[in-house]
Amino acid sequence: MRSLCCALVQLALLSTTSLLVAQGPAAQPVKLAIDAAHAKGNVSPMLYGLMTEEINFSYDGGLYAELVRNRTLQDGNGPSHWFLHEGDAPAATMKIDKTTGPSTALPVSLRLEVPAGPALRDLPAVENEGYWGIPMRAQTQYTGSFYAKSDGPQSVTASVVNNTTGAVLATATVAVQGGWQRYSFQLKTGAIQASANNRLRLAVSKPGTTWFTLVSLFPPTYHDRANGFRADLMEKLAAMHPAFLRLPGGNYLEGDHINERFDWKKTIGPFVDRPTHPSPWRYHSSDGMGLLEFLEWCEDLKMQPVLAVYAGYSLRGDYVKPGTDLEPYVQDALDEIEYVTGSANTRWGAERVKDGHPEPFALQYVEIGNEDWFDKSGSYEGRYAQFYKAIKAQYPQLQLIATTPVKQTRPDVVDDHYYRTARQFFDDVHHYDNTDRNGPKIFVGEWATREGSPTPNFGAALGDSAWMTGMERNSDLIVMSSYAPLLVNVNPGGMQWETDLIGYDAMQSYGSPAYYAQVMFSNHVGNEILPVVQTGDAPRLFYSVTRRASDGTVIVKLVNASSQPQKVQLALDGVSHVSPSAKLLTLSARTTAATNTLTSPRTVEPVESAISNAAPRFTHTMPAYSIQVLELKTK
Ligand code: AHR
Repeated sequence: MRSLCCALVQLALLSTTSLLVAQGPAAQPVKLAIDAAHAKGNVSPMLYGLMTEEINFSYDGGLYAELVRNRTLQDGNGPSHWFLHEGDAPAATMKIDKTTGPSTALPVSLRLEVPAGPALRDLPAVENEGYWGIPMRAQTQYTGSFYAKSDGPQSVTASVVNNTTGAVLATATVAVQGGWQRYSFQLKTGAIQASANNRLRLAVSKPGTTWFTLVSLFPPTYHDRANGFRADLMEKLAAMHPAFLRLPGGNYLEGDHINERFDWKKTIGPFVDRPTHPSPWRYHSSDGMGLLEFLEWCEDLKMQPVLAVYAGYSLRGDYVKPGTDLEPYVQDALDEIEYVTGSANTRWGAERVKDGHPEPFALQYVEIGNEDWFDKSGSYEGRYAQFYKAIKAQYPQLQLIATTPVKQTRPDVVDDHYYRTARQFFDDVHHYDNTDRNGPKIFVGEWATREGSPTPNFGAALGDSAWMTGMERNSDLIVMSSYAPLLVNVNPGGMQWETDLIGYDAMQSYGSPAYYAQVMFSNHVGNEILPVVQTGDAPRLFYSVTRRASDGTVIVKLVNASSQPQKVQLALDGVSHVSPSAKLLTLSARTTAATNTLTSPRTVEPVESAISNAAPRFTHTMPAYSIQVLELKTK
């Protein structure tokens, strides 16, 4: 009897609880009062931009469309990623030759030696495996080239060969003779099955010795730029409508040691004169993405470069003392700015013209170093001051970014970085609400919710979106922000840093849920920040409201990071009319673990719909785990 009674009480309690849960959202909707009559500041027109670097095979094996891996034979010991195909010459050999190359920058080559023997039908060759394959598609033209030297007249046949069947997918033959020269060829595919299961083969027709380097093969690129960018990745970046690109990256700027920094002067001009260099992310950079290519990337996506200059500190702790020792580095930075912005009459502007870009690039921001809070020597105060003084003397209009707060000089902007969990971002969305508006402006130059691997899951998208509402509400102070890193080659061994916005292999790419959140945020933002007052509690609800002054549209961003739907009362004060029909974009998932992958690229993606009950005062119900944008027309 006693237990039956208890069971009944429990049942009653349980049903009350479930009733409460079921009624919870309806009972007391949170109210957001939006002051549509008094903007509290302007949204920075450069709020959303890009930041990445040579990490996770982001450029080589990623954005930079080159298909040949280790094209200059300087990556690793021995001919990494190159293979010998003996064909009908079983005694043929392939090895690295450190005694000959086409230039001082490229002193190394791949030597293919074919001894005299019976007639060759299956031609001996060197083969490159590409970045986890050489992707080939039907009816497509590929542009190839190589530098070669030979000890006698040779015919070199360039072809792409399927690894499984040995089928030749496209082929071209080039006559090679004498000392080092550049040779080019075109490969055109027919009606083939698209696949990356291929190698590039360079075969010789006769016995003899042939040396190769700077072997290159490009597919069609974005905007058909020679030596350009992978189209699918550029399209994904373009969809983010980024206002700027922080270049050339974070750690990649610094290098492990001073001589491994991004030494920009060694990244310009013909590829044959670029010595290439090790990236701090444990692989060698081809420097195909040199300074000018970064700038062209900006041009293609209509982004402003945010130029980070090497400031005398490298990752393993080497630093240059401020004063005379630092002067050459300061001069390098001045030369770099001149290369970017100078006219043809300047020393470095003329160099850019010679490199094929007559027009100077617009430049507003220069960042001095990267994450100099790691420099425990305390030299950044002096280094920043020295760069600041020299750059401002020549370019007073430039805004100079410090990578950590400094006292000796007042920086124009300070770069803050945040790599966090979703929960840490939820708890810190008010981070900048009370920051002194009379101090330096803020650049959130690297940030991400690091949940999900290789790319962020939906929980990370919620953390990111909550954080973005905070940045947007404070975008009178935060002039720029950039998620990092952007790109990851998801093949085994491709990733050095977990949680990257966009994933890909040789053939395909996909945007993570966090990518779609970025697209939603950056494509739907007004130019004025509207104040919002919240009444009532709402678990894990985050918001920001902006207005597009040109047409009066009020853009409401709502993030419901809780597992329950939430009702939100929206009140637009100072507005007499709101069109009942309003555009609604929703990114949502059943669980925080939901994600996108190469094989399921669209599990989580934004869905556009409309609401029909918009008004100066109305109630909106947010689904559980959702990120929404509402566009309210007030005119
Ligand atoms: O984005 C990855 C790395 O994180 C950057 O190279 C560095 O600046 C930061 O520590």
